[in-house]
Amino acid sequence: MATETAPNAAPPSRAAIGARHLRTDRWWLAPTVTVLALLTFIAYASWRAFSQADYYAAPYVSPFYSPCLAEACEPMRGGPNVALVGDWWPFSPALVILVFPLGFRLTCYYYRKAYYRSFWASPPACAVAEPHRSYSGERRFPLILNNAHRYFFYASALIAGVLTYDTVLGFRNEEYAWGHMGVGTLLFLVNIVLVWAYTLSCHSCRHVMGGRLRSFSRHPVRYRLWTWISRLTGHHMALAWASLASLGLCDLYVYLLATDVFSDPQLF
Ligand code: FES
Repeated sequence: MATETAPNAAPPSRAAIGARHLRTDRWWLAPTVTVLALLTFIAYASWRAFSQADYYAAPYVSPFYSPCLAEACEPMRGGPNVALVGDWWPFSPALVILVFPLGFRLTCYYYRKAYYRSFWASPPACAVAEPHRSYSGERRFPLILNNAHRYFFYASALIAGVLTYDTVLGFRNEEYAWGHMGVGTLLFLVNIVLVWAYTLSCHSCRHVMGGRLRSFSRHPVRYRLWTWISRLTGHHMALAWASLASLGLCDLYVYLLATDVFSDPQLF
């Protein structure tokens, strides 16, 4: 039976429960795994991005270093390396470009949820109170920068285009002859599919496709695109992790080839 509340009545106050939460399941598991996985990736990616070495093994270039825009870039035959940044740039060439995919992921709606919960415990899980006394949302620096997500989406879509070009170049062998395919080519193919799936499943992309429309029936193409993107968006979390792992694996593969740990097995 529905309970009626008199108009103008004060809203009921919260139940006086002393416990921080009443959950008895392992709610802490997801944030703990998230912290460990993200810290592992951050440690690995930082080591590789600052190393300035072993990021090219013909015909593959590490996605952490592409497009290579510094004068200090290794010569990569056919690769999209343009020396936009001169020899005054004292840091690794990866840092010129990584700021965009990093910003894209840092401001991503899914990653925001993941790191707010796991690193800031804000809140750590549903129905578990957070330890902070006040909440300012994303209205202040630095979290207000998360509102720039759509611009990182545009930049990352361009970079995904460059990574697609890199993947096509992977159909050459070490002597740069076309029509070959190695295990690395396969790995880069899987990676680029995941990178595009993650990029297109972005909520900003969904908004670009179908946002601000008053009538879907008057924009059938945008409506169709919005429908497809919406299906992808439903898998955004899985795509975020899968593409992160594939980017790391591609870089690791290039590193192992460049340091002569093994040669790229040729499939044909
Ligand atoms: Fe995750 Fe845009 S919401 S990439």
